[in-house]
Amino acid sequence: MRALVYIGMILLLFSVLACKRDKPDPDPIDPSTPSGCNTFDYSNTTPYQLDIPPFIPPMNIPTDNPLTQEGVELGRFLFWDKSLSSDGSISCGSCHLPEFGFSDPNTFSTGVGGAMGTRTSMALVNLGWANFFFWDGRAATLEEQVFHPILDPVEMNESVQNVVLKVQSNPMYPPMFEAAFGTQCVDSARIARSVAQFMRTLVSFSSDFDKAYYGTSVTFTPEQWNGLELFLKEGGDPADGLGGQWGADCFHCHGGSFTFFTDHELHNNGLDSIFVDPGAYAVTGNPMHLGHFKTPTLRNIAKTGPYMHDGRFATLEDVVEHYNSGGVPSATIDPFMKYTQGGLQLSDYDKFCLIEFLNMLTDEEFMENPAFQDPH
Ligand code: HEC
Ligand code: HEC
Repeated sequence: MRALVYIGMILLLFSVLACKRDKPDPDPIDPSTPSGCNTFDYSNTTPYQLDIPPFIPPMNIPTDNPLTQEGVELGRFLFWDKSLSSDGSISCGSCHLPEFGFSDPNTFSTGVGGAMGTRTSMALVNLGWANFFFWDGRAATLEEQVFHPILDPVEMNESVQNVVLKVQSNPMYPPMFEAAFGTQCVDSARIARSVAQFMRTLVSFSSDFDKAYYGTSVTFTPEQWNGLELFLKEGGDPADGLGGQWGADCFHCHGGSFTFFTDHELHNNGLDSIFVDPGAYAVTGNPMHLGHFKTPTLRNIAKTGPYMHDGRFATLEDVVEHYNSGGVPSATIDPFMKYTQGGLQLSDYDKFCLIEFLNMLTDEEFMENPAFQDPH
């Protein structure tokens, strides 16, 4: 009985915390249904051809929001437009900088009026293949995601009505809306759809790793190759009977197929035993999701620090040290974090190799692509 009361109190505490973190609900904008403008007419648009290499499966583009050159261009202007924030000081690009893999080198990004959140900015890369968005997975589509930062008081702190008004009264935009959606009308759903289109074009598959693994223009150094093998091998001592190979055991969650470097799932990777940030639990209410966060992609990882949802690790050395230690046990820790006792026992040379491998995932062509930069 006592235990039940205790568990009840913990759950209550977490729900209070969860409520505190709650963002105001986006106004009734459902990007899948026509809102103020009532139409989405793509018939006079030009299809946008994504440059996706043959080793990558096709992107899941929603049938009701196809990629068009006009929509992507509009989305790019809006992504970089500071007037989408309440005081005109911040655009999406302020916290998602191209030279840092579309993330922010600060632990917590600065929002309007110096406000600060409690989570670190995420890299915007290959989002068109993801199933949900944010560290806790609370947005199901990119279209739905767009208004979260706009409405968030510690980010852009603006209302749907004001954003629509400001975009509408900027003479540059109505013709762009006409080109992308058939009429000059501006509404939240059209804004969300065009920004989502732009974000789907942020694809990164031209790193040295891709050139070495899928092509011949770059060759692996012995250290990089050793790092790749460690990434793919099970951790731990073979003598323990768990299939150990003295590897680093990264592939279970960051993908063994060497494509996205994420399994697009939520896991608890052993950072904490008490969860200051409840993670996906705040979204699902399922106690098994306490401390579960989205597996980030490792593409451009050398550029997207600081690392983890709260930016607790400054360097890749710190990250590798965390995994090498095995992490801390908790009721919801992932079954693949098997070595909370004893750790992975990687040698200094192995740790070095693993980082050499991760450094290969930097894609300069992606970050410098002129099509993604601020057009204003
Ligand atoms: C003040 C900084 C800030 C601004 C401005 C901002 N973001 Fe973010 N972005 C973040 C943070 C922090 C997160 C992680 C938030 C979380 O998980 O709770 C994030 C997460 C995201 C994600 C999720 C990525 C993933 O892999 O799941 C997307 C997509 C995104 N932002 C797009 C945008 C767009 C579009 C805009 C402009 C409309 C924008 N952001 C404006 C800081 C910012
Ligand atoms: C059990 C699944 C799992 C395993 C195994 C795993 N990771 Fe992770 N990784 C995650 C999750 C989940 C996060 C985000 C956790 C958070 O922020 O709370 C993460 C975060 C990271 C980050 C930070 C990314 C960022 O953008 O902040 C790096 C780097 C990383 N992992 C590398 C590795 C390496 C290298 C290995 C192997 C030694 C590994 N991971 C093994 C699930 C895993």
